[in-house]
Amino acid sequence: MSETVIKLENLTKKFGNFTAVNSINLEVKRGETIGLVGPNGAGKTTTIKMIAKILRPNAGKILIRTNDSELKDLARVSSTVSQIGFLIDIPNFYNMTGYQLLKYFAKIQRYPKDKLENRIDELLELFKLSDWKHERVRNYSKGMTQKLGIIQAILHDPDIIILDEPQTGLDPLARIEIRKYIRKLSKLGKTIFVASHMLYEIAEICDKIALINYGKIIGFDTVDNLALTLKTSEINCVLLNPLPSEKRAPLLIRMVDRLNPYLDQNLDPNTAEIPIVYNIEHQGLKFYFDGKKESKGEILKILVKEFESDFTILSFIQPRTTQLERVYSQMVTDNTPEGTIKLTGDDS
Ligand SMILES: Nc1ncnc2c1ncn2[C@@H]1O[C@H](COP(=O)(O)OP(=O)(O)OP(=O)(O)O)[C@@H](O)[C@H]1O
Ligand SMILES: [Mg+2]
Repeated sequence: MSETVIKLENLTKKFGNFTAVNSINLEVKRGETIGLVGPNGAGKTTTIKMIAKILRPNAGKILIRTNDSELKDLARVSSTVSQIGFLIDIPNFYNMTGYQLLKYFAKIQRYPKDKLENRIDELLELFKLSDWKHERVRNYSKGMTQKLGIIQAILHDPDIIILDEPQTGLDPLARIEIRKYIRKLSKLGKTIFVASHMLYEIAEICDKIALINYGKIIGFDTVDNLALTLKTSEINCVLLNPLPSEKRAPLLIRMVDRLNPYLDQNLDPNTAEIPIVYNIEHQGLKFYFDGKKESKGEILKILVKEFESDFTILSFIQPRTTQLERVYSQMVTDNTPEGTIKLTGDDS
């Protein structure tokens, strides 16, 4: 079992009478990549700012273990801990060039001077910013500034990397690159803590998800384990050919009848009226089932064997992102205090 490197104990932050972070407990082990997700205003940035010592907690503790040390109370460690790298909010950079700025941060972190030039060039190259090295940061685009913020966070090669919405403002290719890079850092044994709204990215890169709502952690586990709490699970099945319109209704009825023992018996009618839905656009079937592995096996077996003459299956998947989206919306909705307004948008 690997050791704990960050431990939040009853961590609390109030702004006046308002409790932004409400007695949070969380443990991050060495080498883990943890995703912190939750609605706007849930307390993600406030939590990260307390770890970065930008904000002081009203109650509770933050314990940190870097390379060689034991778990130490952050409040007793002088200044910030140099083995941690931070990206917090959209960086607000000054009138410096990218190069000057990175050199300045490296100096604060006491990064060895002899290695610095190579390190800066290597990272600028990796993030495709080499041509902008000597340009003023105020002339950078939003995404370029964000990339510089990420470089700043990892420049001194910290053991622990804490990123607040690293993907904000990045174009799709840059997002893919950053995702790959975070995975690479994780393979190098770094401990990564990342707050984000991008559930796809989080599901792809994180070992565990911490769900935060109204300043409280409402779930902390792997996506698969969190999904066990789902009232319903879904599998998607892409078909080789579209189902002819006249065949759809009778076929769906036959399938619901045959697969009934494995399907979700208490499906919320807001989700779907019957537990099998045909999606014309994706040319696929969606099954709402009881979430059991055995049921998934049975459903596939029956579809292949008994519906062979009706359709050919191209793929059969339980999508992880959708799973996280569903865990997220179920847990956030279930943990909304009474008396607050629930927004039930139809933008999903
Ligand atoms: N300096 C401050 N003074 C007063 N209230 C604050 C301050 N900073 C944050 N808050 C409040 O604390 C709550 C948590 O904010 P926080 O920025 O941590 O949320 P978040 O989870 O990061 O949200 P987002 O997803 O929008 O970034 C919000 O209600 C916010 O208005
Ligand atoms: Mg935030």
